[in-house]
Amino acid sequence: MNRPPGPVGGRLAGNGPAYDQDRLGFMTSMSQEHGAIWSFDRHIVVAADPSLAGEVLLRTNRDFGGEVDFLHRKQKEDAATQQQWMSSRAARMRGMRPAAMQEKIPMIAAEMRKAIPSWKSHGEVDVVAEMRSLTSRLGSMICFAEDAHLTEGLEQELFDSLLPVIRSLIALPSWLPLPRHRRVARANQALEKGIARVIEVRRRDDRTEGDDLLGVLMKPTGRHGRLSDKVIRETLAATLLAAQSAPSSGFGWTVHELVKRPDVQERIAAEATAVLPASGDISHDHYRKLEFTARVVKEALRLWPPNWVYARHTLKETDLGGYTLAPGTKVMVPSYVIQRDARWFPEPLRFDPDRWLPQGTGTAAPQYAYLPFGAGPLVCMGLSWSLIEMTLAAALLVRDFHLAAVPGSAVVPDPSRELTPSGLRVRLTPRPAVPGDGVRHTAVLAPEPTARCPMALGKPR
Ligand code: HEM
Repeated sequence: MNRPPGPVGGRLAGNGPAYDQDRLGFMTSMSQEHGAIWSFDRHIVVAADPSLAGEVLLRTNRDFGGEVDFLHRKQKEDAATQQQWMSSRAARMRGMRPAAMQEKIPMIAAEMRKAIPSWKSHGEVDVVAEMRSLTSRLGSMICFAEDAHLTEGLEQELFDSLLPVIRSLIALPSWLPLPRHRRVARANQALEKGIARVIEVRRRDDRTEGDDLLGVLMKPTGRHGRLSDKVIRETLAATLLAAQSAPSSGFGWTVHELVKRPDVQERIAAEATAVLPASGDISHDHYRKLEFTARVVKEALRLWPPNWVYARHTLKETDLGGYTLAPGTKVMVPSYVIQRDARWFPEPLRFDPDRWLPQGTGTAAPQYAYLPFGAGPLVCMGLSWSLIEMTLAAALLVRDFHLAAVPGSAVVPDPSRELTPSGLRVRLTPRPAVPGDGVRHTAVLAPEPTARCPMALGKPR
């Protein structure tokens, strides 16, 4: 067994204080100093390179275990329950495949058209909070369709109750009877009860065949048979939590970049005005033409991945990057560092949506250099859904409003859970209405080449 090199740290507390004081800075500077694989304290190894990151994520469940979840949902005691969880994952993946998600675009857009105009009435908008209540509602709709009201607000309370627990610097066991642990237990119970109620109503009304996620999970399959109600409740509760947090942070970062760049806002507004109908359904056909807006979202997730670090642990003695790691070694994969590495993304700190054009440098980056949704057996199942959400929200918001930072507000990256733009406050000013058919026919959809943007000029790397 040999350990990768790394910082020595203090005699008593090791590197803990330096890490907790500035997690992003610590990970970045130590990766620059020690290279692709390094270690700190006694049992933490960091894999800060695309190919090692790919190995860790792809070998998850074989050589590496996932993170311990506070609610202990994923630590299943018996093989049969574990098998059921995997079956539920496969079924939800089917339910959330891109083609199924594309059909939901009119529904997502309709919800957004209701919600976004109301944001401006709040004056200064807390975009992350507004987007969280929107994505939370949409998450319930994809799980429960017309029965979404039966769990309304319950997943938000579970999320809110979990925040102080997850943000705490000291991870205390969940069985300790602290008030905050009791609040999580109550919220979790309430949400699972709400889900149980939906299952009951569906059975009573003989509506077990819906095409929402609950419908998919209630259908027995030849391969996996019927899932237990407990597994259905737990896996849908986990999905509802995942559906609201990362997209709201990701969208917050998109807006954070937009308020600094009126020129990018103009390009989005022009594209959205040209592509989206002023009224009537927004379909997949409209959505897929929002090419520039989609690149903006993609670039925001490169600079600011909500899941900025992946945590795994070795399940047994395991080789990685030429080292042999002991069982139980914690392995961290900082996507934030990899996605800002100049070797894979030239001028990495420059916000440049056009690096994602077919000939751009982003598109040419090595596999696993861009990891906002993970990879391997735990890859995000909401990938298509959340890209649709964020792209449509950006297009609809910027089509109708100019975005500006509230004077005196300052954004601080908060990596204590997901990477979130803490302090983001935005002022929305309505754009002048477009006369005629509501469609502004302009020619600014093509990326405008500028001297400072080699990717737009098509210059090779
Ligand atoms: C910007 C938006 C999102 C980002 C960046 C994101 C990112 C991720 C990442 C990185 C993982 C894997 C974590 C790991 O490997 O340890 C993950 C897992 C997951 N995501 Fe997302 N996610 C987003 C939106 C969503 C949405 C909208 C949903 C559901 C509607 C969702 C559902 C899930 C679920 C259920 C898992 C757990 C998979 C499992 O453990 O089996 N995500 N997400």
